Amino acid sequence: MTATTSAQAAHLVAALLFILSLAGLSQHRTSRAGVVFGIAGMALALLATVVLAALEISATAILLILVAMAIGGAAGLWRARQVAMTEMPELIAILHSFVGVAAVLVGWNSYFEVEAKGAAQHVVPAELLSIHHAEVFIGIFIGAVTFTGSVVAFLKLSARIKSQPLMLPGKNLLNLGALAAFLVLTVWFTIAPSLGLMIAVTVLALALGLHLVAAIGGGDMPVVVSMLNSYSGWAAAAAGFLLDNNLLIVTGALVGSSGAYLSYIMCKGMNRSFISVIAGGFGIEAPSSGDDDQGEHRETSAEEAAELLGAATSVIITPGYGMAVAQAQHPVAELTRTLRERGVEVRFGVHPVAGRLPGHMNVLLAEAKVPYDIVLEMDEINDDFPQTSVVLVIGANDTVNPAAAEDPSSPIAGMPVLHAWEAENVIVFKRSMASGYAGVQNPLFFRENTSMLFGDAKQSVENILRALDDAMSAGTVQASGGGAGTAQPAGAGR
Ligand code: TAP
Repeated sequence: MTATTSAQAAHLVAALLFILSLAGLSQHRTSRAGVVFGIAGMALALLATVVLAALEISATAILLILVAMAIGGAAGLWRARQVAMTEMPELIAILHSFVGVAAVLVGWNSYFEVEAKGAAQHVVPAELLSIHHAEVFIGIFIGAVTFTGSVVAFLKLSARIKSQPLMLPGKNLLNLGALAAFLVLTVWFTIAPSLGLMIAVTVLALALGLHLVAAIGGGDMPVVVSMLNSYSGWAAAAAGFLLDNNLLIVTGALVGSSGAYLSYIMCKGMNRSFISVIAGGFGIEAPSSGDDDQGEHRETSAEEAAELLGAATSVIITPGYGMAVAQAQHPVAELTRTLRERGVEVRFGVHPVAGRLPGHMNVLLAEAKVPYDIVLEMDEINDDFPQTSVVLVIGANDTVNPAAAEDPSSPIAGMPVLHAWEAENVIVFKRSMASGYAGVQNPLFFRENTSMLFGDAKQSVENILRALDDAMSAGTVQASGGGAGTAQPAGAGR
């Protein structure tokens, strides 16, 4: 077997390991094995690529590649060890931008290589030259859209820029115009390639990526992240065609198609049009900010909250991003144990996009050893809110916003949310009246049955635990059996 066929065999095995990795990652039980398959596949792919390259290029070039790999690997390891769970989506977004920029550079390199020696050294057979030109153009286009789109997603997710959608006049026409221009330029380039066209397509795609993601509102960002994941896969596949690398083609297609399918599932779950989101909010009109006067909100204290909980028969906890920021999951689990020991029915209602990652809340609650059987999905618990004494909204905001269900002009209109407002009493744990990720005011905070418990969520839950203990010692709260009937704070009711 020659070195080339050995490397191709290794690439094939690596591709199979990536498929096993995807299969493993699809279930909790097998996810660790999925990660191990992924690491093994990537290690094998890198080894085969470097060994193959070592046979074809100079020792100095190989040394440079190894130095670059060591620097990249060390930077990746350092960042991965440092990153907080809440920062994962922004890390993923910036990593997608690297794939995008790599695809652009591969495209440009391929163009220059063929221009410089194509005719003389038959880098590309003459009859395939037009196809090669199209590959270069398409690869650069997808890569550049992925690059700027991912950078904007990174800036939005890390709150470096506002998450509200950018609403340029005629934004849909701008996107359609850019796509039409790309098609015309591609045909032109395959007939008469030139540096000017290369620059034109790069600038066009960079601008389109920027606009596509800037036009998406905060509430739809989870879909955008998985969509950019898909784009980065197609960008890698395009680079694979240019580099004649089968592994890159297969892996890119796997990432591209699985990312596209995930985006589709998320759009369905969030009642969004898939086409509208991938087309940069196509057809979505300028939303109202929901900032109009909502009336007065009411504040409560940890002691009052403890009193309410002491008299409750059923409690639903709806956790959100703020619980992750405050790292409040452990005291929340402690509060759950305390209330259950006193005979109160406690359950969790988890929204599919609560937090900043799919499954974010489930991971935190599992880490704090909250029993799985009391952690319910939104659809499983939404009908139970009207029969619930108290809902504790811990650091959630957009995912419990009634405007999504009641205000058709809201930017999050139509997104399914947890119907927390239907419960007898709602206590919202947050630090201020600030809006959630989507930048939309939440009318729940102004309802008559809602009280705001301001402060860091972890501190507030710990204060409630102390107040419950004190009340127990003083004998004002029953040791078990919960309250008789539904609790009512002063002035509660709808
Ligand atoms: P958000 O709407 O993001 O609201 C979180 C709330 O937590 C904020 O209003 C904030 O208010 C509060 N908070 C922050 N730090 C806190 C602390 N230390 N203690 C107490 N409260 C704190 O949360 P959500 O309901 O989970 O919704 C998630 C949003 O993120 C959705 O719009 C979703 O589309 C988007 N998103 C989700 C994902 C995925 S896949 N899950 C990915 C990207 C984006 P204060 O500042 O007043 O405290």
